[in-house]
Amino acid sequence: MAVVTLIWAIGSLHRPWSPGANTAEERRSGCDLPQRRPTVVASFRCRAAALPQASLLQPAGLPKVPAANIGSMSGDGSLIDFYESGPEAVRLQSREGLVEFLRTQRVLRSILEPASRILDVGGASGAHADWLVRDGHRVQVVDIVPGHVDDARSRGSNAQVGDARVLAFVDQSFDAVLLLGPLYHLIDPSDRARALAEARRVARPGGLVVAAAVSRIAVALDYLRKGRLDSKDALDMVARICANGHDDTGFGAGIFYFHTVDELRTELVDAGLSDVAARGLEGPAWPLIAPGTGGDDPIIGLVDAIAEMADHDESLTGASSHVLAIGRRTAS
Ligand SMILES: C[S@@+](CC[C@H](N)C(=O)[O-])C[C@H]1O[C@@H](n2cnc3c(N)ncnc32)[C@H](O)[C@@H]1O
Repeated sequence: MAVVTLIWAIGSLHRPWSPGANTAEERRSGCDLPQRRPTVVASFRCRAAALPQASLLQPAGLPKVPAANIGSMSGDGSLIDFYESGPEAVRLQSREGLVEFLRTQRVLRSILEPASRILDVGGASGAHADWLVRDGHRVQVVDIVPGHVDDARSRGSNAQVGDARVLAFVDQSFDAVLLLGPLYHLIDPSDRARALAEARRVARPGGLVVAAAVSRIAVALDYLRKGRLDSKDALDMVARICANGHDDTGFGAGIFYFHTVDELRTELVDAGLSDVAARGLEGPAWPLIAPGTGGDDPIIGLVDAIAEMADHDESLTGASSHVLAIGRRTAS
């Protein structure tokens, strides 16, 4: 029953909402959104709309990333093709995405201060921005894929196209910066370092940087779950990813990087963040979630419960497919 309730709650986050004229009060307060959600969501959107506009946040002389450079981050520019062809908007509602979503939500709720200013870099269609705004935070989404930004805007998020490596925001302007996506798409370590340096730069002293990685074992677990480890080629491919963090010919070639937990922690420490901690999201039982649609399988609740248990043992962190690293900008 608890699982059904949770799944209903998640589904309700993404339920389509009807467009309609805004109230006179919203227009007066500058929240004259092209579309609005009813009731409580609309009032939080007004607070989000109060975030400074990108044009005001853009520091003078900030280097813009030329289009060709954006493409080069994935070696051949195929990152945008990858996402423009896939349903990222519903990934976290799928059977395999639910535990990642719930655990991310719980971890973030446990560390965010009330009414935070949050920059959600790689925020895609706004799956996290939606509930963060409902929780009372002010959220700005940035994503490199224009289609994701369009989706996020159509759901009512403040969203703009941008690159994690060159953020168009002034120093120290956010209480928390989320990087839930860019690090695992930046193959070159110097690009990941740039993204983390930018996240630190725009976080206020004492503010949080939260970065997601996909773990080294993730593809092996996913292939196992899907019954795809039945050939030597497949086994060799996942073994190469585990050994090297990427594969030039197999899954995610050129657009995915897979971290060890130590590597992820070290990248945050090297970026000058302190109190760095890593948390596994899906836990070790996630491969038991069979592929398919429908979030009403009781196994999902059990996998989630086991992920919570595993979170007490740091040595199990890398057994999750996604890992969150949390660091704090020191007072300087
Ligand atoms: C798997 S999605 C994750 C979306 C969402 N944050 C989540 O946690 O479900 C990864 C996102 O990172 C975005 N991304 C990848 N590299 C980026 C970069 N350099 N700058 C901004 N966004 C980037 C992608 O476009 C994509 O929307």
